[in-house]
Amino acid sequence: MNTPDGLRSLRVGLGERAYPIFVGPGLLRRGDLLADCLPGGDVLLVSNETVAPLYLETAASALAGYRVQTLVLPDGEAHKTLETFARVIDALARGGFHRDGCVAALGGGVIGDLAGFAAACYQRGVALLQLPTTLLAQVDSSVGGKTAVNHPVGKNLVGAFHQPVAVLADTDTLATLPPREYRAGLAEVIKYGLILDAGFLDWLECSLPALLERDAGPVAEAIVRSCEIKARVVAEDEHEHGRRALLNLGHTFGHAIEALAGYGEWLHGEAVAAGMVMAAETSHRLGWLDAAALARVRRIIAAAGLPVAAPGFAPEAMLSAMGMDKKVIGGRLRLVLLEALGRAVITADVPRDLLLSVLSDVRQAS
Ligand code: NAD
Ligand code: GLY
Repeated sequence: MNTPDGLRSLRVGLGERAYPIFVGPGLLRRGDLLADCLPGGDVLLVSNETVAPLYLETAASALAGYRVQTLVLPDGEAHKTLETFARVIDALARGGFHRDGCVAALGGGVIGDLAGFAAACYQRGVALLQLPTTLLAQVDSSVGGKTAVNHPVGKNLVGAFHQPVAVLADTDTLATLPPREYRAGLAEVIKYGLILDAGFLDWLECSLPALLERDAGPVAEAIVRSCEIKARVVAEDEHEHGRRALLNLGHTFGHAIEALAGYGEWLHGEAVAAGMVMAAETSHRLGWLDAAALARVRRIIAAAGLPVAAPGFAPEAMLSAMGMDKKVIGGRLRLVLLEALGRAVITADVPRDLLLSVLSDVRQAS
C-alpha cells in the first residue's frame, strides 16, 4: 500500500500472528496506526540513553491512549546482555504488568532484540511493538521475530522467536543517525540483493549515491523492498529450518569478528559487510562465483563505505569462533554462500583448508 502522505505498508503473512510493517515519515506520531494491533492496557516503552532524548516523548505521546511506563537503558552492543535483559523483566514485574501488557522497543537492533526477548519471556510472552530508529533495524532486525542477547562465548546465544504485533518504521528518525551507523544498515540492504534479488542489486548499485545522501524516496524504497524480501522468507520459514538461514549471508564470519573484536568495536553491519566479502571469496574459490561477480560484490560494499576485509585475527581463532554459530548441526559448520549474485545456498561442504585460506587472505594487515 502507498498513500499520498508517504505512508507505505506491507504485511508479514504468518496466519493469526500476521502483522503490519508501516514505513514512512512522521510515523512515531501516528498512534492511530496501532489501534488494530495493540491490546489495551499497559505499555513499557524501552529505549536507550541516546535515542530517548530524541524520540521518547514523541513515541510516548503517540501511545497516549495507553498507560505508558518508560525504561531507559545504557546504549551499546556491550549492554545486550542477560544483566540488561533482567532490568527489563524487573521493570515489567515491578511495574505490575500482566499478560495483556506490551513492550514497545524504541531504538536500533540492540534495543529491539533485548526488549523483544524480555517480551518473549515475561509471563511466557506479552505483546511486542517494534519502533525501529536505525536503518539496520528498519530493514532487518525489527522484522521476523528473532530476539536475543549476547553471551561472551557467542553472539545472540540466548534468545527466542517472538513476532511483534506491528513494526512502525519512522524514516524521519534516520536524519539523526550517525553516518557510520547508517552505512552499517546498508550492509543488510545489500545482503538482500546478494542472496535473493539480482534486480534489487542492480537498483542498489545505481541508487547508492542517493542512498548515501539519505534521499527520502530511495531510502523508503530500499526499506520497503528489504522488508518485502524478509517478510516473504520469514513467512515461508519462520523458525529457520531451511530457507531463512539465507538471511545470514556473511553472518557466520561477521558474528565471529564481533565476538573476537569485543562487542561494539565492529558494528554488526560492518562485520556482516566483511563477512559477505569472505562468503563471496569462498564461493569464488569453490568455482561458483566468477571473478567479475566477486569484484562486483567488493565494489558495491566498498562504495557503501563498508569494510571489505576482516581485522587481522588468526584464521584458526576465527574458525573456532565461527564454530559457535547457530547454524552448526552435528558439529559441522554450515555457511551461506553464493551460487550467483541473487542466488544464495547453504552448504556444509567447504573444505577446512579452503576456508582457512580465505580467513587468512581476506583480512586487514595487522
Ligand atoms: P544499535 O541498536 O546499537 O544502534 C546503533 C547506534 O545508533 C546506537 O548507539 C543507538 O543508540 C544509536 N541510534 C539509534 N537510533 C538512532 C537515531 N535515530 N538517531 C541517532 N542515534 C540513534 O545497532 P543496530 O545496528 O541498529 O542493530 C545491531 C543489532 O541488531 C545487533 O545486536 C544485531 O545482532 C542485531 N540484529 C538483529 C537481527 C534480528 O533479526 N533480530 C537482524 C540484524 C541485526
Ligand atoms: N537477520 C537474520 C534473520 O532474521 O533471520
